[in-house]
Formats: sequence, C-alpha cells, structure tokens
Amino acid sequence: MVNYIPEPFRIKMVERIRILPRSEREEKIKQAAYNLFNLKSEDIYIDLLTDSGTNAMSDLQWSAMMRGDESYAGSRSYLRLLETGRDIFNYHYLQPVHQGRAAEKTLFPLLLKKGKYAISNTFFDTTRAHVELTGARALDAVVAEAKNPSLRAPFKGNMDLKKLQDLINVYGNKVGLIVMTITNNSAGGQPVSMENLREVSKIAKKHQIPFCLDAARFTENAYFIKMREENYQEISLKEIVREMFGYADMFTMSAKKDAILNIGGLIGIKDNEELYQKVCTQTISYEGFISYGGLAGRDLEAMATGLYEGLDENYLHYRIGQIEYLAGKLDEAGIIYQTPAGGHGLFIDAKAMFPHIPYYCFPAQALAVELYKEAGIRTCDIGSFMLGCDPDSGRQLESEFEFTRLAIPRRVYTQSHLDYVAEALINIKKRSHEIKGFKIIWEPSVLRHFQAKLEPL
Ligand code: F0G
Repeated sequence: MVNYIPEPFRIKMVERIRILPRSEREEKIKQAAYNLFNLKSEDIYIDLLTDSGTNAMSDLQWSAMMRGDESYAGSRSYLRLLETGRDIFNYHYLQPVHQGRAAEKTLFPLLLKKGKYAISNTFFDTTRAHVELTGARALDAVVAEAKNPSLRAPFKGNMDLKKLQDLINVYGNKVGLIVMTITNNSAGGQPVSMENLREVSKIAKKHQIPFCLDAARFTENAYFIKMREENYQEISLKEIVREMFGYADMFTMSAKKDAILNIGGLIGIKDNEELYQKVCTQTISYEGFISYGGLAGRDLEAMATGLYEGLDENYLHYRIGQIEYLAGKLDEAGIIYQTPAGGHGLFIDAKAMFPHIPYYCFPAQALAVELYKEAGIRTCDIGSFMLGCDPDSGRQLESEFEFTRLAIPRRVYTQSHLDYVAEALINIKKRSHEIKGFKIIWEPSVLRHFQAKLEPL
C-alpha cells in the first residue's frame, strides 16, 4: 500500500469534465474509427493521452503572463528567460522555440546529414523523425533491463555503454550526434543515472562526437537521481541539474512537460558560439526573431516561472508519489506495467494482460479502446500499432513492447481520479479473456497511429 502524498497546492480554478453514458461512449469510439486521437476532448472524462502541454499553470505563471513584453525584438521577457536558463543550466546560449520538435528541426540539420548516424538511449518519435529528415539514420542503444517490464531496476532509461561503443566502432566518424533522452519516454519514463551521463560524456569527448540532451523531463530525472543514486541525497536538485547538463554540449527541450506549460520549447548551447550563431539564423527562418522564437512574450514569462516551479522538490515529491500511488494500486491487482513507475506515467503491459491478442492485432490499442469504453479514460498505444510497417516489405513490425501509456498531466488530477483509473483497469483485467484485438482498415503513409482507422475483430 503506497500512501498518496497530498498536493502541495490548493485549487482556485476548475474546469468541468463529465462522463457520457456507456452506450454513448461506445458510439463515440466507433465514430472515431477506434482511434482515440479522433475523439473530442469533451467526450472524455479523464484524459491521460499525454502529459505534454496538458499541465495546470500556477497563479504565479498566470500573473507572470500579464507582464509579458510583446516587443518584436529585445523583449524584457526574453531577457528574463535567458537569465533563468543560465541560472538553472549554466549554459551560455539559450534559444526559445515554439515546442520540442521545433528545437529538433532547428538544431539537428546543423549537425547531421545524409550518411551520418545519431545514437540515443531511445529516440522519441519526433526526435527520430528530425534526425531522419536530415538524411541521417537514428539508432537506439538502451540497456537490456529496459526490455523486461517486470524487472525492477533504478535506471532503466540508461544507455548501454557497450552497445554505444560498438556502434561507434562500426560507424566511426559517421556518428554525428549522441542524444540522451531524459527521462527515457519510450522506455516508460525511466530515468538515466548521473553515472551513465558521465560515462556517455567521456565516450563522446574521446571520439569528438557532439552530445545533446533531449531534456523534456529533466526535473523528474533529477529527482530520481536524488532519490536513487548513491551520494546525491544531500545535493540540491538545482546542483544535480547543473551537473547533468554539464556533461552535455547542448540540449533540445520540449518545455510542455517539466516546465509545466501549455506550449514552449528551448535550445541550449553550452559554449559553442559558432553553433549558436547558426541556431539563431535557423530560428529566424523557421520560428521568428531570436527574442521570441515562435512564442508570445507572455509564454516566455510562463516558461521562466515554470522552469523554477518544475524544480521544486515538494512538487516533485508529490508528482512522482502520485504515479507511485497508482502503481501501488495496480500491484495489488497483479496488473503488470513497466516497473518501477515512470516519471510521467505508467506504461501498462498489454501483452501480459491480453496474452491471446497477437502483436498484429494490437493489444495495447485494444486496452486503450477498452479503457475509454469502460470509464471514459483516454490513453494511447506505445506498441506495434504505433510502430507501423517495414518500409521495404510493407509487413507489420513487432514492437518490443505492447504498452498502453497512462500519461499523467501535471497538477491536474487528484487522488480520487487515480482511484477511478485503477478501478477501471482492475475491472478490465477481470474480463481480459473476453477482449478482442483490432485490424487496420485505413492508414496514412507515415506516423499512422495519429490517423489510422480501425475495426474490432
Ligand atoms: N522529446 C521527448 C522525449 C518527448 O517526449 C517529446 C514529446 C518531444 C521530444 C517533442 O516535443 O511535443 O513539444 O514537439 N512528447 C509528447 C508525448 C508529445 O506525448 O510524449 P513537442
């Protein structure tokens, strides 16, 4: 039994949500062609589709927005963001952009091109896509323990150092970039240890390969280091963050996660002025002038305030505790998920829940659809449905995992919402043998899970 850690805030504004009757939910999901991206948000009771941009901002963030300086150039809000970023990350150069993938689109073509390779613990989909859009190839090298959901290990997001070294031995100077995703989203929101960052940094330096952090969930990662890694218990989160970022040369960040925003992104360059100048030129072409980078002055203010709020230890204690509480409820019911609980959510092992549904009938999508029908909860498939087909043979690929992701938005849902989610999963598990898989009746050529149409088998 894991105790719920009370929220370190009180609520002064609410947003109505409602649950439709079961017969209407069944009709809505049918009309949505069994793809949860096609549902209207007003038809959802609890929305765990993503923790990205779905966060609740604080009174301080909303009031900072009123001070937003909307000047085209030289905005005061931009200067405040630079000051904040320098204080937290100890990086000389920072460039705001409108979200994480804009950071990737701006930075990666400056480092990669056709014939090059980029290596990550695990690339997130958009990060992989932006590596491949430069013509380069993206390779993953996560530690083996990440692949066993029932195995409890403290840093399942780590890079497999031997695999990294082997890939460098094979591809030599064609390796143009190393990316560490912190926390490792696709492996279940699992953290990367400081030791692993230090070792990857040594390898990158030895081979003169630029080292970039994909830092969307950097405060959750820092909190896990403080809790789980030897010698970090007495170190402040800010010092941990500075050490983490100190090992890298640059970062891309979706600020829609740990900076507790609804929109925003950031690029950081530690000290390479020449690279920063190129980032500025790219930003002006794609995002707008450097002092706003695709955002309004008010968004820059919300980011500057949110970066500090995301680093608050009381908040992180509650945030990670909330997910561990939900995990504890699932443990009691024997529901298997990527253990230990991730920083931004739980990744339910749908293969374990529905052993009778083969990967090509999409067990994780079946669980996502069932959660909506059962309780009006929206989640998403991180499995073979998302992975897609081999581009050469056109055959369905088998994913290493069949996860249904319950991503928890920050400061949005309460204990009773989580109890309700656990209850829905437990009810589904009781009749898991009755649940059937799906087949795809239409799909687009890329990133199919956003648009594909399905039919129950
Ligand atoms: N990197 C990671 C690790 C991410 O999780 C995401 C987004 C991005 C980059 C791209 O950032 O959305 O601001 O352009 N992840 C979201 C998710 C969409 O649901 O996990 P973005």
